[in-house]
Parts: sequence; C-alpha cells; structure tokens
Amino acid sequence: MTDGSAAATSRQLLRVDDLRVEFDTDYGKVCALDGVSLAVEEGRTLGIVGESGCGKSITARSIMRLLPQNASITGGSIHYSAPDTAPVDVTALKPNGATIRQLRGNAFAMIFQEPMTSLSPVYTVGAQIMEAILLHTDLNRREARERAIEMLDRVNIPAPEKRVDAYPHQLSGGMRQRVMIAMALSCSPRLLIADEPTTALDVTIEAQILDLLQQMQAAENASLIIITHDLGVVAETADHVAVMYVGRVVESGTVQDVLGDPQHPYTRALLHSVPRIGAKARLSPVGGTVPSLLEMPRGCKFAPRCSVAKSICHSSEPPSFALAGGRSVKCWLHDQGGGTGR
Ligand SMILES: Nc1ncnc2c1ncn2[C@@H]1O[C@H](COP(=O)(O)OP(=O)(O)OP(=O)(O)O)[C@@H](O)[C@H]1O
Ligand SMILES: [Mg+2]
Repeated sequence: MTDGSAAATSRQLLRVDDLRVEFDTDYGKVCALDGVSLAVEEGRTLGIVGESGCGKSITARSIMRLLPQNASITGGSIHYSAPDTAPVDVTALKPNGATIRQLRGNAFAMIFQEPMTSLSPVYTVGAQIMEAILLHTDLNRREARERAIEMLDRVNIPAPEKRVDAYPHQLSGGMRQRVMIAMALSCSPRLLIADEPTTALDVTIEAQILDLLQQMQAAENASLIIITHDLGVVAETADHVAVMYVGRVVESGTVQDVLGDPQHPYTRALLHSVPRIGAKARLSPVGGTVPSLLEMPRGCKFAPRCSVAKSICHSSEPPSFALAGGRSVKCWLHDQGGGTGR
C-alpha cells in the first residue's frame, strides 16, 4: 500500500463498467467476462486477484484492446480520462486503429504474463525498447538508444550500456522481467498494467521487482493495475482490490477493508488459503474447482463451493450490493431486502 489514505478517493483515470467479453469456441460462444466493473484512480494501485482462469488477463487485454482473435467485447464500456483530454471509451475504438495504437505506449502499457513470449528472441533487448520509444516519441535513433540504456539503468540492470545489445535468452528471468518493465515505462504511460509480473521469479527477486514497480509508479505519479493470484502481493502493493471469480468482480474496495474484513465467502476462502507467520490455524485451500465456462452453475457461480450458500444462491445470481466506504460485494448474504443491489 502506498499510504494509509487509500479511502480518500482521488480522480479516476480508468473506469470499467459492466464489461462483457465472449469467445467463439468450437463448442459455441462462451462468456469470459460478465459484467466486470472496476476503477483505477490517478497515482494509485488496483490489485486484481483471483484463481487461475477467472478472467484477470482478459480484463487487462480488454483495456489494451489486445484480445485474442476469437474474443469480442459484447457489452459495457472502458472509459479512460486523462486530465488534459476528453474521456475516451476504449471499447468504441477500432481494434487496431490510430487512436488505440496511440494510447498503447503513451497512455497505457502492459507487462505481460509471459516475458519470453512478449520479448522477441531475434532482436536485442535494446532494439525492442527503442522500437517503442521511436514509435511514441520524437526522439531520433541515437537519442532512443540513450533512453533505452537509461531505462535499463533505472530498472537496476547492471552494465546497461553492454546489456542493451544482449538478446533475451542471454538474460536471467528476473532481468528479462526488468527489461519488460523498462520497455513498458519507456514512454511514461499514465497507466501500467502488470499481469503476474513476479510469478516465475524467486521471492527475493519478486520483492525487488515489486519495489521497483512502486518506485517507478511514485516517480511518474502513474496508476498501476497489478494482477496476481497472490493476496500477499495485493496487501503489499495495492490501495484498492477487485476480487474476481469466473469473469465477475465478486468483491471490491480498499485493501484495508477487503483484506481486513472480507465480506464475500470467496475472498474469505482465498484468505484462509494464504500462510501467515505465527498463525496456528491450519491452512485450508479453497475446496472444489473453478467451473468451466461451458458448464456454469445457474445461480451464484461460487455457490457449489460455498459453505454458507442458501437456496437462492443456487437458483439466482446475486447483483453487486454497495456497502459503506465504496465497497461492493456480489453475494446474497448482503441482501438487506432494500434494493441496494445494482
Ligand atoms: N482464446 C481463448 N479462447 C477461449 N477461451 C479462452 C481464450 N483465452 C482465454 N480463455 C478463457 O477465458 C477465461 C479467462 O482467462 P484469463 O486468461 O483471463 O484467466 P486468468 O485469470 O488470467 O488466469 P491465470 O491466473 O491462469 O493467468 C478462462 O476460462 C480461459 O480458459
Ligand atoms: Mg492470466
């Protein structure tokens, strides 16, 4: 967490409302995101957390408009509002048109989940960082190379003037991840999306990379979306959190509220599966498995795994109920009968 004032809201930079994404598959259409809503404030960090297959990467790729070929956005909106320009609905842009290409790099940048597939093996890391700089700034090749070296230095790569000419396979996993960060930050984006930036790294390197992301964010007053399945990473880095379960945000709010006093049974189950130093209680993994998109339960999608589900939970999907402090929770246990749901 950057400071204790996360509850005091600042300006929203990005707002996702009721986003729906469908895939065309051999078995017909499946809905990967169904009504995802979230917001990212200026200079703040949003953590998106959830088990594998819950739609975290698809949410990020929707914002970047870099969805797989067989995916389409079939509902909702993604509003990006920079302070100096009119808000843009990213979902209304042409998939590879000039506006979205301009936004990618200048306004949004993403660190992808798989650094080896995002870095080309046949170009040096310097050439790849320079490509982004040349595309999005007025710098010439010599200046772009200098900027690439400066970025490698800023992400603490030793001997950057030599490493700029290295190929990705000549670098360690941690260094490749730093190159990805250097590339993403080379054009000073306002929003950086880091999709599982530390999953493949050991804990010491993980801590260094998370530190680096936070330092860079603070230096540029950028906003950060950090995608992870690790609640520890959220606790350490984020101001707000959105907990996802099969294409839905089931709980959201400040990290203090959501992790300190979780209201959704899924969030509670995730928290109980995290080891804590000094805790005597046994760890309990979340029972059952995430349902397939092809065979979704009728009511609440978590109901078959939920230990406190009522009969309504199996027959009807709950709306998101608004709680105090800007929190929301998609669970029938919070239905006060007063129509607070949305
Ligand atoms: N090209 C595709 N065609 C069909 N379904 C897909 C495609 N890509 C992803 N999916 C499905 O969309 C859902 C969401 O995937 P996504 O990659 O967003 O999950 P995730 O939360 O990022 O998981 P992980 O933690 O494993 O990275 C999953 O059920 C996945 O199987
Ligand atoms: Mg993913």
